[in-house]
Amino acid sequence: MTTQEMNQAFEQAYGRKAEKIFFAPGRVNLIGEHTDYNGGCVFPCALSFGAWLLLAPNTDKVLRFQSLNMPQRYEIAIDAIRPQPDRAWCNYALGCIDIIARRHPEAKLERGYDLLYFGNVPAGAGLSSSAAMEVVTARAFTEEMVESLDTQLPFGYKDDKQYRTELALIGQACEHEYAGVMCGVMDQFASAQGKKDHAIYLNCDTLEFEHVPVKLEGIKVVITNTHSPHHLDSGAYNDRVRQCKTAVEQISKVKPIKFLAELTPEDWAAVEGAVTDPIAKKRACHVVGEVARTAQAVEALKQGKIELFGELMTASHVSLRDNYEVTGKELDTLAESAWQVEGVLGSRMTGGGFGGCTVSLVRDEAIETFKAFVGKEYEEKTGLKADFYVAEIGDGVTRLH
Ligand code: GLA
Repeated sequence: MTTQEMNQAFEQAYGRKAEKIFFAPGRVNLIGEHTDYNGGCVFPCALSFGAWLLLAPNTDKVLRFQSLNMPQRYEIAIDAIRPQPDRAWCNYALGCIDIIARRHPEAKLERGYDLLYFGNVPAGAGLSSSAAMEVVTARAFTEEMVESLDTQLPFGYKDDKQYRTELALIGQACEHEYAGVMCGVMDQFASAQGKKDHAIYLNCDTLEFEHVPVKLEGIKVVITNTHSPHHLDSGAYNDRVRQCKTAVEQISKVKPIKFLAELTPEDWAAVEGAVTDPIAKKRACHVVGEVARTAQAVEALKQGKIELFGELMTASHVSLRDNYEVTGKELDTLAESAWQVEGVLGSRMTGGGFGGCTVSLVRDEAIETFKAFVGKEYEEKTGLKADFYVAEIGDGVTRLH
């Protein structure tokens, strides 16, 4: 859908023109999975698909939510912003507006708004459609809720980088408070700080990051969708967060730590005996290994050692399957059949898991064989059809108009 078509849809919905349009992308994570809430590093990139938000203020003091993807519409008075029941989709936006006001006492919502969302991130694919919606809302309303923009940036942010980090934190807080998922900051951060043709090497403890070019000669990043919805909010994710906490508590009896990511593989060998809970032990083993793999993978990419990067991706999947137990039949079938294709450098699940997508590095000449072979194996083993997208790495959130 073009922005012109979105504008027309806005006019149809509200009988007048949109004043502003914003866009925020979804993301794919190349490596560093389930490390973010453990204080570790991640390596995601923003995609060219995401969420658009068109808006115009109204005089009714209500927020009207419509989406071109969802049939439900909502009207919420601006003085009655709180989580809505039954997993209302407007929670991903309402939460951001609420959190902006709480984090920034100088922010005021004095007018109502007519809002129209459109997203083209495949739903339930684990490519952060909700983070895109949060970040696009945070971007729009940080601007709208500051009365006089005497600088280019709201709330006196001295630079764009700091402002974008704040947008990510608003989105993450919304996910915690309005969606009940105790996620890390990776998805919202990628959506806010993405850069075309770069991945983001982010330390999720300090929030320091660097953009690393992803220029792969003759190789594509291919995303494969299981079409088996990932159930991030099903509780399995929050269980993992708790199990990691248990590991931290048990390890801290012999070596005080705040996060699992503080441990090197050598440290882990010395303290693992302290983790008496067998599930917590497996989870910690994944996190320590994944943190080390992520650092190694980023270094490999910088040095052009792309085969090594691919091997580390594959090792990441194995650990997510065996230690973290977040893959399942669909993701395993995709990854394991991808590993058999010549010209595939590496393949792994991406995002929270339990369904969703894999990400693979595939040589140009192998792409067609990859699609045919993986698609066939997948259908035979699961009865489902997979979808393939060649990832285009795009920029972070922006105002388009
Ligand atoms: C989801 C969460 C992220 C991160 C990943 C796993 O996408 O939203 O914060 O924890 O799972 O790496």
